Amino acid sequence: MIATDSLPELRRLVAEARNNHRRVGCVPTMGALHEGHLSLMRAARRQSDVVVTTIFVNPTQFAPDEDFQKYPRTLPDDLEQCRDVGVDLVFRPPVETMYPPRDSTYVDLDGPALPLEGVSRPGHFRGVATVVVKLLMAVGPDVAFFGQKDYQQQLVIRRFCRDLLIPVEIQTCPIIREPDGLAMSSRNAYLSPDERTSALALPQALDIARTGLTAGNRDLAAVREAMHAHLNSTPGVEIEYAVLADPETLAELQQPQPEIVALIAARVGQTRLIDNAIFTV
Ligand code: PAJ
Repeated sequence: MIATDSLPELRRLVAEARNNHRRVGCVPTMGALHEGHLSLMRAARRQSDVVVTTIFVNPTQFAPDEDFQKYPRTLPDDLEQCRDVGVDLVFRPPVETMYPPRDSTYVDLDGPALPLEGVSRPGHFRGVATVVVKLLMAVGPDVAFFGQKDYQQQLVIRRFCRDLLIPVEIQTCPIIREPDGLAMSSRNAYLSPDERTSALALPQALDIARTGLTAGNRDLAAVREAMHAHLNSTPGVEIEYAVLADPETLAELQQPQPEIVALIAARVGQTRLIDNAIFTV
């Protein structure tokens, strides 16, 4: 495995692979790697000849009051995990490479970037989209892997890749959970033992929605209300949103339809967590 912080070196190595007709797969991350990230790298390993992982804690996707400074940074451990799952190349650029001095260009988003996270975290997807475009331009992969964990993010990424004619295939991989159901996240490290218990209210609320919808409950307002009631009754949990939406547009649903995505964002103490599930009813 080669780890580099040099854009010219990255480009040289990927060009070499492409000249040899090798399929290049890319897994963008912010590091603090866990099994969720590793599952994307394993998928990339299965489906491509050369696996490139990027590790960059992207400042522009954090609001000034968010956790950019304290975001966990565990590079030596991350590199070891990348090596263990068979990553070929790790790109860990300095901030000056991703944001050259006096840079003045951002990606402007509409559509699926506007609701939910778009309301809760204004400017977040602008930062995500800008850095993902740059990472895709830097690596030039055939295929890039993202997690369903960040449901709206993968939807936004699919949309801007299509709209901006970026020649990359986007694959979305399933959510990896802890044995008790909590979706793995680098931010779980912030939770105290009590908060860690309260955080289970998120996957539990998704289970409540699943049970209601698959048992044929056609009253979506009642299902949504049951999710809210469970989250609200859990100590330390404050809902930002908990909705049943269309999986493509993220518009909130009034009527049942064959595919429904339930999306939750909540604060558990100071920590903001998200989770989601797709139901076929
Ligand atoms: P990060 O939070 O490090 O996540 C990197 C990738 O891992 C994302 O595609 C995310 O959806 C996926 N992932 C995280 N937890 C997961 C889980 N439990 N199961 C499956 N996949 C999971 O998302 C970002 O970084 C950034 O926004 C990024 C796209 C790198 C742009 O900066």
